[in-house]
Amino acid sequence: KFVARPIIIDTDAGVDDALALILALRSPEVSVEAITTVAGNVEVDKCTRNVAYVLDLLRPDSRPMLAEGSRRPLKKKLITAPEVHGRDGLGNIGLRRPRKLRVRRDAVDVILESCRQFGKRLTIVALGPLTNLAKAAQKNIRTLKMAGRIVSMGGALRVPGNTGPVSEFNYFVDPEAAQLVLNAGLKVTVVPLDLTQQVVVMRREIEYRAKRRASKLGNFILRSTRHYMRYHMAAEGFDGGYLHDPIAVACVIQPSLIRTTRNRIDVETKGDLTRGMTVAARPPAVWRAIQRPGAAVDVATSLDREGFLKLFHERLWQ
Ligand code: BDR
Ligand code: CA
Repeated sequence: KFVARPIIIDTDAGVDDALALILALRSPEVSVEAITTVAGNVEVDKCTRNVAYVLDLLRPDSRPMLAEGSRRPLKKKLITAPEVHGRDGLGNIGLRRPRKLRVRRDAVDVILESCRQFGKRLTIVALGPLTNLAKAAQKNIRTLKMAGRIVSMGGALRVPGNTGPVSEFNYFVDPEAAQLVLNAGLKVTVVPLDLTQQVVVMRREIEYRAKRRASKLGNFILRSTRHYMRYHMAAEGFDGGYLHDPIAVACVIQPSLIRTTRNRIDVETKGDLTRGMTVAARPPAVWRAIQRPGAAVDVATSLDREGFLKLFHERLWQ
């Protein structure tokens, strides 16, 4: 009998996070048990509101548990990305806080409770800075280790950064948390920029699909991605946007979409230029000799782009 995989999504609820949430909530292969929020793209209260907004659009009645988490990184001051995601995190489209919003305030406990409840069947998908997961590790590493897998979108290994010259946003915002989670002996899959920048969705494609399937959700996707795509036009020179977080979710829905390599990754916590940089041991023979027990992760190194885009559009516009 087919059983959906229980997952929890930890998110800083920007534009691509919202697309990732929609993808997850519309995929029968996974069952979203809880959504936890973390400061990143925007302040954490805005993240929580954005998640609630997406849940309202998709699941007016039965919704997964929503829990607000860390307001700031472990040690650094919070840096947000309004230029990418808009001041509200969803492209400045004037969202109101949904009424009757039931939110817990203890994301870290929700994460640990889910680990206890679902054990190794549980996958945690982290789409923002790793602050909540680092705190969960600090609070009770044995319980966090019960989770079958943590998928973290973050890092830039062989490509330049998108925030610092060599650093990806999520790990730049909270490098101490990333360093802790990637070196705690947890079962982590890192989905870096190297992979996520291989796929772009163009504005004309979104417009075309939104027009063909006129709906509240389609309209939301169209409006919320406009600002994000304008940013990519200015920064990258194409009229579209990257799908970082949906790719991380897709890896859980359909694991055959990616291939991974085992490696050790350290995250630089210091330096204006290098903060958040991911440094992988290489070549493999060297790291095998120097590895600390347990401190290795699976790094996603190749992606079936067409397979991903097919899944993404099928589920989003169904
Ligand atoms: C990551 O940073 C955020 O802006 C995106 O939501 C994604 O999680 C990409 O670097
Ligand atoms: Ca994100």
